[in-house]
Amino acid sequence: MVCLMTILILAAVYPECRLSEKGMEYVGKTNVTETGKACLRWDSEQVTSSYESLDAGFNEVLFYEEHFINQDPSLHENFCRNPTGLARPWCFVDDDGVKMEFCWIRLCDDFSENFHEFFWILGRWGVDLDNNQAGILDMYLAGGIMNYAYILRGSKAVPECKLSQKGGEYVGVKDKTISGFDCIPWLDADSSGGDRIRGDREGSFSDELTDSHNFCRNPNGNPGGPWCNIEVPQKPNLKWEYCDVSFCDLGASRRTGESGDQYESNGGVMQPNYETCRITEMGKEYYGEEKTTETGKDCEIWPNKIYDDFPISLFSHLPFQDRQFPGPTQKIRFFFGRWTELAEPNKQISEENNSCRNYGSMERPWCIVSLANLTWEYCDIPLCHGPKVFEWCLDCTEPAECMQTTNGREYLGLKNVTRSGKKCQPWLSQMPNVHSTILRLPMFPDPVVDSRHNYCRNPDLDKKGPWCYNGEGTNPEWEYCDIEFCEGMN
Ligand SMILES: *[C@@H]1O[C@H](CO)[C@@H](O)[C@H](O)[C@H]1NC(C)=O
Ligand SMILES: *[C@@H]1O[C@H](CO)[C@@H](O)[C@H](O)[C@H]1NC(C)=O
Ligand SMILES: *[C@@H]1O[C@H](CO)[C@@H](O)[C@H](O)[C@H]1NC(C)=O
Ligand SMILES: *[C@@H]1O[C@H](CO)[C@@H](O)[C@H](O)[C@H]1NC(C)=O
Repeated sequence: MVCLMTILILAAVYPECRLSEKGMEYVGKTNVTETGKACLRWDSEQVTSSYESLDAGFNEVLFYEEHFINQDPSLHENFCRNPTGLARPWCFVDDDGVKMEFCWIRLCDDFSENFHEFFWILGRWGVDLDNNQAGILDMYLAGGIMNYAYILRGSKAVPECKLSQKGGEYVGVKDKTISGFDCIPWLDADSSGGDRIRGDREGSFSDELTDSHNFCRNPNGNPGGPWCNIEVPQKPNLKWEYCDVSFCDLGASRRTGESGDQYESNGGVMQPNYETCRITEMGKEYYGEEKTTETGKDCEIWPNKIYDDFPISLFSHLPFQDRQFPGPTQKIRFFFGRWTELAEPNKQISEENNSCRNYGSMERPWCIVSLANLTWEYCDIPLCHGPKVFEWCLDCTEPAECMQTTNGREYLGLKNVTRSGKKCQPWLSQMPNVHSTILRLPMFPDPVVDSRHNYCRNPDLDKKGPWCYNGEGTNPEWEYCDIEFCEGMN
């Protein structure tokens, strides 16, 4: 017991440690400084109103938000971070006024140090490790490391994966895009002599730029994840593409790629339908009619215009520049308008309906409880595989392989060939067809879209249902997919 607990304290495992000296990529949860003071939230009024006057390295060229990984200070709560490239992660504290203070964050590759410290402590306690305990220790350390695909970069082990959809924290060494193009160094001038990363944007990288640094990164909060600049002679307009960086934790919530057999093996009675439950945590596929929040308040009818104080997570999938208020709200209007007006055109949802939805990228379905006060709350929509709804199907975690609504916007199935049998192009790829559909991330029913995702979807709410880009480089550029309606639909 003593032994395992001690290891848990000493052996820092990514992301609860820093991969580099400065730890600009650190996204762990330490929330106190090295002198034990409580960190303030990065998005608190106290901090945002005074950060400019404090000498903490904020860069005038960047907006405050743009210093943070994934450009979203609220995501970082009150955790120690290094948004400004100081010596180590730090945070603001309230110590007779707002001040910055460093945090103590262990380096990830300190395993040998941990090890020595561990034995030293055991020795002091007079504990002798028998073979069995030593075995457990090895297993623990191995387990901690093997959870991630580590590769060696210099003397450091760096995880070759991302933790968030945008992957701003990724500091791996991938230097090719999804379609296999070589990445151009970030600091290289473009063909017209211009600055590829526009202005002094080094401050929004999760590591330090050198002249040769051409690794995939996401300094500007693009919705698809790390990307890089490219030059493709046959496609002169193609300036960049996303990279194939997968998620670190492919745990239980992610799909395995198997078909929907589980429904049958669980009795074959009926499939969970997303009108009564959500199959994903985020429930972006939910299209039912629950109209009260989890605290019992009535939902207001969805507005058909945008208000400045709408929760930011509605728009946080966009790069910061594109979601500013007030400012260029075109894109936001576009996305929100599409949702509310086109999501259920026949039902006139924008004017008359008030069911809980996950418009945007909130944690779960929600609704507005007061338009006058712009307040909103989450709704209690049960999980399809939770104990609440389907006792006959306790493990209904596979999505239905059929459409439940007229346009199939909720379709989460695995079909990835078009009607005429063409294989689908991954949504994050710019080859063979150049497009920016991933900007509509909130309209994908999927909680995340990674570089392998080439399943038929309906992110633009086409009346004729799910479709995909033709991945074979032939005509047409895109095609509908052949997906049947679920039983009882037509
Ligand atoms: C810091 O995090 C711990 C554990 O997550 C939590 O219990 C504590 O309240 C947090 N402290 C502050 C000051 O936010
Ligand atoms: C389609 O998806 C399946 C399951 O995820 C995968 O095994 C297969 O390789 C994909 N096919 C194509 C053409 O991408
Ligand atoms: C939306 O409102 C219209 C008109 O009041 C109604 O006919 C329709 O059934 C409602 N739809 C939903 C999904 O509640
Ligand atoms: C809105 O706020 C006002 C004043 O704060 C309050 O009196 C009113 O009850 C609120 N309305 C709703 C619907 O919450």
